[in-house]
Amino acid sequence: MGGFSLTPDQASTVAGRVDTLFYALVGLSLLFALPIAILIVYFAIKYRRGSSADRTGAHRASIKLELAWTIIPAFLALGVFGWAASLFFTIERPPAGATEVYVVGKQWMWKFQHLEGQREINELHVPIDRPIKLVMASEDVIHSFYVPAFRVKQDVLPGRYTTLWFQATKTGEYHLFCAEYCGGDHAAMGGTVFVMDQADYARWLAGGVAGAPAQAPTSLAASGGQLFVSLGCSGCHRMDGSGVGPSLAGVFGKPVPLEGGGTVVADEQYVRDSILLPQKQIVARRQPVMPSFQGRVSEDQLLQLIAYIKSLGDQPAQAAPSAQPTP
Ligand code: CUA
Repeated sequence: MGGFSLTPDQASTVAGRVDTLFYALVGLSLLFALPIAILIVYFAIKYRRGSSADRTGAHRASIKLELAWTIIPAFLALGVFGWAASLFFTIERPPAGATEVYVVGKQWMWKFQHLEGQREINELHVPIDRPIKLVMASEDVIHSFYVPAFRVKQDVLPGRYTTLWFQATKTGEYHLFCAEYCGGDHAAMGGTVFVMDQADYARWLAGGVAGAPAQAPTSLAASGGQLFVSLGCSGCHRMDGSGVGPSLAGVFGKPVPLEGGGTVVADEQYVRDSILLPQKQIVARRQPVMPSFQGRVSEDQLLQLIAYIKSLGDQPAQAAPSAQPTP
């Protein structure tokens, strides 16, 4: 990058908008603060005790002036609010169809799992010009996922999923930080986001570039499917619904009726809670016999199970995967 810049690279679709808002806020603040500061000094000198300045005809009150300095700033503040809120919603709402990457933060590293099965630590490879949605959880304390060049930052919490999305607009390598003090090596909890063009990314996914896994790994959903069998889930959750537990085919993303009324949408959090805290939300007309898997599945494995259940999507009933690893 040529020349001096006050801000990091603008490497995402929202970076320019965030910077424009920031500069507008700085400009507005200076617009009010500078004249006031200058006038304070000027008047303090001009009207100091003993000065010969003309003090006749001083205004005590002016309704016009008071209305002006109330109404104009009120509209300015509301304008900034509307502007910032619209940008906030853009940043908070991942577009439909974004590519998902699962993230686990722990003291003191970032672990990434791609749907295709690639796993990385402190390195994240993403394609340019495609929306990427991160689904994140922490294994221990609160962390915060921060990529300054993308102007996005999101807390990563234990026991809960948070999401963050971005769409990179420039290939290159960008710093990734933990932005929440999380213990001794917090400062070392960082890494690099590699933004690649589509062809390079496809090659990376296929394992054809240095630093990529030697062979295409088992997809995340397939790993989850194996876990589903090895943990014994498939014994009760049969695809045809004949088991003790409900069939999970087509459940993800749909409303689930709860015992005692009400519904809940089967999102990542619901699946997670159902595995770890099965008594929290009982599905209507079901016996609460599901055991808790608290302490038996890691954060990484939970995300694999979620990927598996997601992959069951709207497919018609099908056999649970066999215990053999799927190619
Ligand atoms: Cu993790 Cu600071």
